[in-house]
Amino acid sequence: MKNEVMELARLLKSSKHVVVLTGAGMDTESNIPDFRGKEGWWKNRDPRTVATIDTFHENHSLFHQFYSMRLKMLEGIKPHRGHFILAELENKGMVQSIATQNVAGLHTMAGSRQVYELHGNIRNIRCNNCKHGAGVENFLEKETCQFCGKDALRPGVVLFGEMLPSEAWDGALRDIEKCDLLMVIGTSLEVYPVNQLPMLTKGKTVLINMEDRGSEGLFDLKIIGKAREVLEELHNTLEG
Ligand code: OAD
Repeated sequence: MKNEVMELARLLKSSKHVVVLTGAGMDTESNIPDFRGKEGWWKNRDPRTVATIDTFHENHSLFHQFYSMRLKMLEGIKPHRGHFILAELENKGMVQSIATQNVAGLHTMAGSRQVYELHGNIRNIRCNNCKHGAGVENFLEKETCQFCGKDALRPGVVLFGEMLPSEAWDGALRDIEKCDLLMVIGTSLEVYPVNQLPMLTKGKTVLINMEDRGSEGLFDLKIIGKAREVLEELHNTLEG
C-alpha cells in the first residue's frame, strides 16, 4: 500500500483541482453499515421493496420502520479521522470539493465546506407533498405535515427511481469534468447515475476501496485498503 499512497501524494501535490467522490465505505469506520458489503443494508433486503416512493405510499409502515431504524442508528455517530483529513486537505487548498452518495452528513460534520450530497441528507425531513421542512422527531412520531396537512413526512434522501437533487448533481458534474484528479473512496459504483461520474473526468482517477471492484481501465491507480487507514497514511506521507 505504501508505494501506491506515495503515488497518490505525488498526484495530489501536482494537481490544481481535486475532487473526492465517496460512498458508504467512507462511513463504515464510523459504524454506519454499507449497502452491499457483508453486513450491508441490502444484504437481506431488496432495495426496491423499501427505498422507493411506491413503498412510501403503498407500504408506509415498512418505509417508516426502515428509515426510523436508520435515523435512530445515527444518534451519537461521529466522523472518523479520514473525514477530518479530507476537510484538512480542503482547508489547505489541496481538495476543492467532495461529492458524496452518503446521507448522514459526516463530511460536513468534519468541517468540509464544498460538499455535494448527491443522494440527499437523511436528517432533512420534509413533507412529501409541499416539501415544507420538519424535524426528525416529527418523522419518528409518524406525523403528517403540519403545514399542508396532506401528506406524510419523509427523509430528504433520493429513493430509487427519483431524480438526484439538481444543484448537487450539476455542481459535482461541473467540478468532476474540470478536475485533474478524482479520488473515489468506498463505493461499489453500482448505482446510476453516480457510477458514470468517474468516466466523465479528463483527470487522473484513483480508487480507494476495501475490495477491488474490477472496473478495468477506469482507474489510473487503485489502493486496496480501508478508507481511514489509507487517508491516515496519505496524511503522514504529505506531512513527512
Ligand atoms: P456499497 O455498499 O454498494 O459499496 C460500498 C463499497 O465500499 C464496497 O465496495 C465495500 O467493499 C467498500 N468498503 C466498505 N467499507 C470500507 C472501508 N472502510 N474502506 C474502504 N472501502 C470500504 O455503497 P455505495 O456504493 O455507496 O443509494 O452505494 C451506492 C448507493 O446504493 C447508496 O448511496 C444507496 C444504495 O442503494 C440510495 O439509497 C439511493
